Amino acid sequence: MEAKVDLYNSSYGNYALSAYSEIRFETYGEDYGQTSWVTTAESNEIPKLLQLSSSSTVLEIGCGSGGYAVHLAKHIGCQVLGLDINADGVRNAKALAEKDKLGVRVKFEQCDVSQRLPLEDNAFDAIYSNDVLCHVPRRGQILSDLRRVLKPGGRLLFSDALIVGGLLSNEEIATRSSIGMYFFSPPGENERLIKQSGLNLIEARDTTDSAALLSKRWHDAREKRKAALVATEGEANFAGVQRFLECVHTLTAEKRLLRFLYIAVK
Ligand SMILES: C[S@@+](CC[C@H](N)C(=O)[O-])C[C@H]1O[C@@H](n2cnc3c(N)ncnc32)[C@H](O)[C@@H]1O
Repeated sequence: MEAKVDLYNSSYGNYALSAYSEIRFETYGEDYGQTSWVTTAESNEIPKLLQLSSSSTVLEIGCGSGGYAVHLAKHIGCQVLGLDINADGVRNAKALAEKDKLGVRVKFEQCDVSQRLPLEDNAFDAIYSNDVLCHVPRRGQILSDLRRVLKPGGRLLFSDALIVGGLLSNEEIATRSSIGMYFFSPPGENERLIKQSGLNLIEARDTTDSAALLSKRWHDAREKRKAALVATEGEANFAGVQRFLECVHTLTAEKRLLRFLYIAVK
């Protein structure tokens, strides 16, 4: 589905503009280039949940503009490969790695992860994917492919903010989906697909409050910088992203859409 409102091209294409980095700091407290519902507390916990060490080989599915992968390579010392479909995101990610002279440790490739991954079997100690799989068709196949490229005993962590928790109107579904293709899932579906792929679920954690908090902060931080954002995104797109963020806030605050974090092991 064609996006009616552009979020990712404007976020990644304008990554370096001060208004966009100020918004990320104000929303998350740390700037990893996020366009997700990952709080900084969750970012800080991911290395522990994935049992990362400096010798780990790590795959990120949907790395966006690469800031968090670069952060892991720098602070944990692990090897990271980041994949994303968005050309601006991958270009930005490569520039960040180059700037920090981390080109040997962290690599980025443009890749549509709905297709079989061009990666060897049993190649990674850990895989993570923050708020990406909701955009991608054939989730069952992706999870099987992620299991294939994980080493035995390796861990997978992913989040899904599109789990239906209550009544949603057609208008709310349209606004929530206005930035691109989305798959809404019933509670329990990710657990079922994890099991079907041959992975073992360790934990499914309700993190809906993170999406409610961050969507409000992100909306308000953008509103404060309306003039600068309208100048780069245009009036109609600015308003569209604001409507999207308001919708995320309402639906998650009222628990009609849920976000869950899943940790599984091969
Ligand atoms: C909500 S953003 C999350 C980005 C990043 N993980 C973060 O935490 O900020 C979703 C990302 O998924 C990427 N994406 C969507 N469909 C994809 C696909 N088929 N293959 C690879 N990446 C995809 C988008 O380009 C975007 O960067």
